[in-house]
Amino acid sequence: MASDQATIPRWLPLLGGILGSTTCGLLLYAWSVFIAPLSMEFGWTRAEIALAFGIVCFVFGLTTIPAGRLSDRIGPRKVVLVGAVLVLIGFVLSGFIQTKLQLYLTYGVICGVGGGMMYLPPIATGPKWWPDRRALATGFAIVGLGLGSFIMAPIATWIIENHGWRYVFIWVGVAMGILGILSALCLQNPPAGWKPAGWSPPPPPPGASAKSQEDYTHDEAKATPQFWMLYIAFFCSCFSGLLVVGHIAGAGIDRGLDPMAAGWAVSALAITNAAVRIVIGGIADKIGTKKCFIVLWAIQVGVLLLLYPTAGNAVLFFIVALVFGWNYGAQFTLFPATTLRYYGAKAQGSNYGLLFSAFGLAGLAGPWAGGYLYRWGDSYYIPFIASAVVMAISLVLLVIAKPPAERT
Ligand code: 2OP
Repeated sequence: MASDQATIPRWLPLLGGILGSTTCGLLLYAWSVFIAPLSMEFGWTRAEIALAFGIVCFVFGLTTIPAGRLSDRIGPRKVVLVGAVLVLIGFVLSGFIQTKLQLYLTYGVICGVGGGMMYLPPIATGPKWWPDRRALATGFAIVGLGLGSFIMAPIATWIIENHGWRYVFIWVGVAMGILGILSALCLQNPPAGWKPAGWSPPPPPPGASAKSQEDYTHDEAKATPQFWMLYIAFFCSCFSGLLVVGHIAGAGIDRGLDPMAAGWAVSALAITNAAVRIVIGGIADKIGTKKCFIVLWAIQVGVLLLLYPTAGNAVLFFIVALVFGWNYGAQFTLFPATTLRYYGAKAQGSNYGLLFSAFGLAGLAGPWAGGYLYRWGDSYYIPFIASAVVMAISLVLLVIAKPPAERT
């Protein structure tokens, strides 16, 4: 089918991805702004408040499994629309909570389900419109996670100071609902067989059968050992990264930095975490994901080993945080781009939806492990070494992983 039969311009799903992922960024990554006001108002411990974040990551990650499957089957629009309404309801209700359980339910569960329903469909949809630039299209579908976290911190801080934390949930919740609905309107799958004008799929490698060039079904993809290698590698890199994301500001302050300098490191991380998602997509379309993985993951192991020793020096800590954020954000483009490369675009929603549940598990385990290991030495030395070791496991798996062999 030629491009003129497409019903929407193909940049529109990319815009949908930017809007939807920005909503998810507002939802997930600025959580730390609520810690102080909630502990002041209710006297809850940091661990009790952190549990809300663990629950939201867990529920968000597990929801991507049905969200991806539904997006492949009924299209992305309805899934994202329901997700946006849930995010709106969950966030606004969080503005009225009186107990921890209510917070776990409204923010953790309702927003977690809504966020997962908004996150996955654009990742599955963009590359279907951009078979010529699939990794780049994936980058657009998730760039807003970094952007959202970057804009939420100042907005939320201003609202908290002038009106109180409850209004952050209410006002930002309404804004997120609107952004989410706009995102849904931009999203739809291309008609079957659609391809961009003037583009033809690259010829199969010599000797490859026609069948081996077809996209995998979800069941076929799940049956390959490579899928589960990617799963463990993704779990490890998310675990390692989220352990640090959850504690980086605290580590700087512990080592003598003033909170302002620690805050600069967090902002540095947010900027590179956003920028890399598009840049690495463009690079991966040219050189493949494997080379990107090897270079960035090797650097990340070194960065994690340097994190503790540099945490007392504002300039070095800032630089290390910049590089850390770059490598951390890259995984959210490189893993979906790798599943596309291994299994094709047809069942990408189901395939990457399942793979992404590794993020949910790591979201619960990583930040918790950071706090637990902290107690072994009363410092972040052991947690950050553990993070480097787990990242090294991810690196080894990604060095070994190869696209699945041809099917007969
Ligand atoms: C991401 O940053 C949701 O953490 C995931 O894309």
